[in-house]
Amino acid sequence: MNDSAFDLVIRNALVATASDTFTSDIGVKDGRIVQLGLGLGAGAREIDAAGRVVTPGGVDAHCHLDQPMEAPARMADGFESGTRSAACGGTTTVIPFAAQHKGQSLRAAVEDYHRRADGQAHVDYAFHLIVSDPTPTLLTEELPALIREGYTSFKIYMTYDDMKLNDGQILDVLDVARQHGAMAMIHAENSDCIEWLTKRLEAAGRTAPRFHAHSRPMLVEREATHRAISLAELVDVPIMVVHVSGREAVKQIRWARGHGLKVFAETCPQYLFLTAEDLGIDDSYQGARCICSPPPRDKRNQEVIWNGLADGLFTIFSSDHAPFKYDAPEGKKPGGEEVAFRHIPNGIPGLETRLPLLYSEGVLGGRITLNRFVELTSTNPAKAYGLHPRKGTIAVGSDADLVIWDEREVTIRNEQLHHEVDYTPYEGIKLRAWPAFTVARGEVVWDGQDFHPRQGKGEFLACEAPTLLPGRPRA
Ligand code: URP
Ligand code: ZN
Ligand code: ZN
Repeated sequence: MNDSAFDLVIRNALVATASDTFTSDIGVKDGRIVQLGLGLGAGAREIDAAGRVVTPGGVDAHCHLDQPMEAPARMADGFESGTRSAACGGTTTVIPFAAQHKGQSLRAAVEDYHRRADGQAHVDYAFHLIVSDPTPTLLTEELPALIREGYTSFKIYMTYDDMKLNDGQILDVLDVARQHGAMAMIHAENSDCIEWLTKRLEAAGRTAPRFHAHSRPMLVEREATHRAISLAELVDVPIMVVHVSGREAVKQIRWARGHGLKVFAETCPQYLFLTAEDLGIDDSYQGARCICSPPPRDKRNQEVIWNGLADGLFTIFSSDHAPFKYDAPEGKKPGGEEVAFRHIPNGIPGLETRLPLLYSEGVLGGRITLNRFVELTSTNPAKAYGLHPRKGTIAVGSDADLVIWDEREVTIRNEQLHHEVDYTPYEGIKLRAWPAFTVARGEVVWDGQDFHPRQGKGEFLACEAPTLLPGRPRA
């Protein structure tokens, strides 16, 4: 029998939230933080964190797990391996996407996605929706009902033939977000420009992976970002522009903010640590590993993204984990072939490396404060998607989702990661920190060496309205 006041006490932690840094013990009972302060009573388990930073568990608000794909493509990670990998890198909540395919009801997509997740996850999860077929029934019945039930955010694509909406459809969907208080996430790239460029590249025989970046120059992102902002202004609704890659889109977002528009923005590790050269400097197929959209840019654009992280332009830092094996017929070599770039599945893995990369180069590299790190990786994603204060902070009453940091040298090696992908785009990068412990609702799930499974204990979280928005949050 457990007579201790606490199930777990973390002692002498240097606790960092989005607003404060202070030394405290953290007392945990039944998966929640129940007391903060020095000299707490005994816990059934105790961890000495003296000299170590403790942050809230990461909230990865943009990742793709077991998302149904057109054959032969198949995602390498589902909810089991995806949340395992997340936990070993300090992330304790994930928000992947229940994606509607055209002709399918949104409700059916959500039910299917629950079946894929049920009993699998090691850490908690919520769902964003992807709206690809905004029928009148979806707009007037299904989507409003789902928002009320806890699916309070959805993604809209301006590109990809099987997902994209035209401007009129985007306006209709944004209007539902406005009426029902949901957060709309927008993938901003101009589809027709991409198709036009792709055809010209193909006609010239330029089909190697590196030409993926040539088919999606920054202006296609700039134009779509500006259009998304204009559509949101017309409807008078906040939006989140996701996976912002560089200067041109950043300029549009700064312009919108300067005009008082509620335009939030997300960026991802690939725009800080990769460049278009990672897609290849010759016609080798290896660069397929780094194909994602928008594509990584160049070193100067990396600096623009770092500046936006430091100065408040960006709201959220997510992985956009979209896991496809490199050497596999269901991955980057469709059907086992080296194919033209247009046929290579888009996306790269990054759930496990997201926090260590930003903590090492951002915080320990002196580019962002520790509190800003917490804000970008945990607090703001929880607020933007209606999970705060249960998630995203260290406070009495919040879930005991915690990361104890170990500031030591680590070289990223795929063989040491816990996803099912056969590569990491960050292979060989030297880091200065990695989680010493990840705690998910009071249970140690990663101890710096070993993963401690808690499959099926990760629970589905119904989301409230976003609390990044002005006005009083719902009681
Ligand atoms: O290339 C990417 N980003 N793949 C994942 C899907 C998306 O658009 O986020
Ligand atoms: Zn996207
Ligand atoms: Zn994505």
